[in-house]
Amino acid sequence: MTASHHHHHHVPVITIDGPTASGKGTVAHKAALRLGFHYLDSGSLYRLTALTALRKGMDLRDEHALAKAAESLHCSFSGDAIFLAHENVTAAIRAEEVGNTASKIAALPAVRQALYGLQLGFRKAPGLVADGRDMGTVIFPHAQLKVFLTASVEARADRRYKQLIEKGFSASMEDLLKDLRERDERDANRKIAPLKPAEGAHVLDTSSMTADEAVEQVLKWYADLKKHHAI
Ligand code: CDP
Repeated sequence: MTASHHHHHHVPVITIDGPTASGKGTVAHKAALRLGFHYLDSGSLYRLTALTALRKGMDLRDEHALAKAAESLHCSFSGDAIFLAHENVTAAIRAEEVGNTASKIAALPAVRQALYGLQLGFRKAPGLVADGRDMGTVIFPHAQLKVFLTASVEARADRRYKQLIEKGFSASMEDLLKDLRERDERDANRKIAPLKPAEGAHVLDTSSMTADEAVEQVLKWYADLKKHHAI
């Protein structure tokens, strides 16, 4: 990893990390809209790589080939839509199979390295809200504000269930709980960039909070920072 991004350090970054289905996507997206900041859904990059791998029938243990696929992703973001080459894959990358595959290939160091520079490029004026697992620990360790969102596994399974049904996917609560636990286990115990709160992160348990309440808390922390001239 290089240090060539140092000239971007003045652009404010808010990192929002947390486990699967903790609501960080919704919270980060809304916070970005409220602040007029750019938004990075870093998980989508792992999902795009996973979708590419699944479609090409790639061997999920072939780290080198998967890193190549990550490095040469032709993706673009337009509003809420995500494109792979010219195809709108916004819905396709949300399938559980894609998420599970993303979580597996995200444990491969070469894949993470391949996506590193792409993620740094999202740091542009007037600011960035970035969500993922390692935004505050690895990608933007000097972020002005770091947040770690959590929620009980039951609350998260419940949210994921509603999300999937809303998007027209079928879902079983029992399978979802099992998947969430497995994914938590993989994300927290992998050797590289494991899921954990960054140093100095504000931890927010959203089990009994709405997304909007969580957004307000994040914005309040950010406003407090500005008030105290910390940024
Ligand atoms: O919806 P969910 O939170 O499960 O997934 P996501 O944020 O879209 O990310 C998909 C997968 O990519 C996660 O299960 C993580 O294993 C991985 N990921 C990661 O390793 N690092 C990130 N910064 C973001 C996602």
